[in-house]
Amino acid sequence: MEKQTVVSPQKHKFPRGWFVIGSSDEYKKGETKALKYFDQEIVAFRGEDNQVYLLDAYCPHLGAHLAHGGKVEGNTIRCPFHAWQFQGKDGKCIDVPYAKRIPRKACVRSWQVVERNGLILVWHDPDGGQPDYEIPILAEYGKSGWTPWHLDRRTIKTHPREIVENVADEAHFKVVHHLKEVSYFENIYENHTATQIMRGMGNHRPISTKATYYGPAYQVTWMQSLVESRLVNAHTPIDENSLHLWFGVMIQNEDFSEEDMVVIRKSLSHMGLPEEFVKSKENLDKIHQAIIQGTRQGYHEDVEIWEHKVYREVPLLCAGDGPIPKLRKWYSQFYQQPSAKTQRVINRESATADSVSDQL
Ligand code: FES
Ligand SMILES: [Fe+2]
Repeated sequence: MEKQTVVSPQKHKFPRGWFVIGSSDEYKKGETKALKYFDQEIVAFRGEDNQVYLLDAYCPHLGAHLAHGGKVEGNTIRCPFHAWQFQGKDGKCIDVPYAKRIPRKACVRSWQVVERNGLILVWHDPDGGQPDYEIPILAEYGKSGWTPWHLDRRTIKTHPREIVENVADEAHFKVVHHLKEVSYFENIYENHTATQIMRGMGNHRPISTKATYYGPAYQVTWMQSLVESRLVNAHTPIDENSLHLWFGVMIQNEDFSEEDMVVIRKSLSHMGLPEEFVKSKENLDKIHQAIIQGTRQGYHEDVEIWEHKVYREVPLLCAGDGPIPKLRKWYSQFYQQPSAKTQRVINRESATADSVSDQL
């Protein structure tokens, strides 16, 4: 019997990786934003080149917060206190209006940012390492035939590791999400990605999902149920006890056949919507909203659990639980530097009762 792997972050409070810090439209040209993530104060702004820049918030001069009164000039920001000017791209001070020479050390730390799929993401590495994986382009984003993201953000009291464990948690689907049956469940751990494949039976309809984490904090789900949909789940730690949780849904913006409408009516009335609401195809937009709302509701069923649970370093597992130890081992790579990674081996495993008991 293999000894259970227990991985808890030792050296750092938060993992290394790409983290969502909002949607593209929240970052407007010329405006500053005060952010707090990873227990650090940060200033963000979008420059005239349309790039979003992130810098440590406190000015190296006398410590003013650059987001509170700082002025964006081109692709730089000027401190609100004595007007020192810092470049967005590298945090270097390029002007002190009242001094002939700029102090050599006049610089604030800059953070790497990427804008992808309508989201802004920042690279976090407490050891200062460079990104070693990418956030892939989602083919459906911005394409005709698909709605835009319906994105919401909430602050919840938990550590991100709790959310990530959902990948391996086979046993919660029936209890938390009221699935009648889970007919197939598989986890695939491959380098920086962790994928859950699930097929089951929901209310009135089958459901199948493929959900992939790219790194420790950004997950895309391909879901086929009432309609074809894409979900994004992302979480970014504010401090050790709380995080911002984003949940986005986009659905295929199609016209429904009469046959589909029968299923849609049943499903939506199950969600408590009045019959008239789903009577005709003219209500397409409202139907979309209702589907999105229903999907979001499903996700928030998980949130209720996360907010109130404790983390078990040594959980008491049994057959049928899913490969939670394997998930924890995969997640632990984001607390190490890439050179020390032990996760380079493709590790494909079904969470059958046998494979789970092998790990215990
Ligand atoms: S505190 Fe920023 S310029 Fe003085
Ligand atoms: Fe869940």
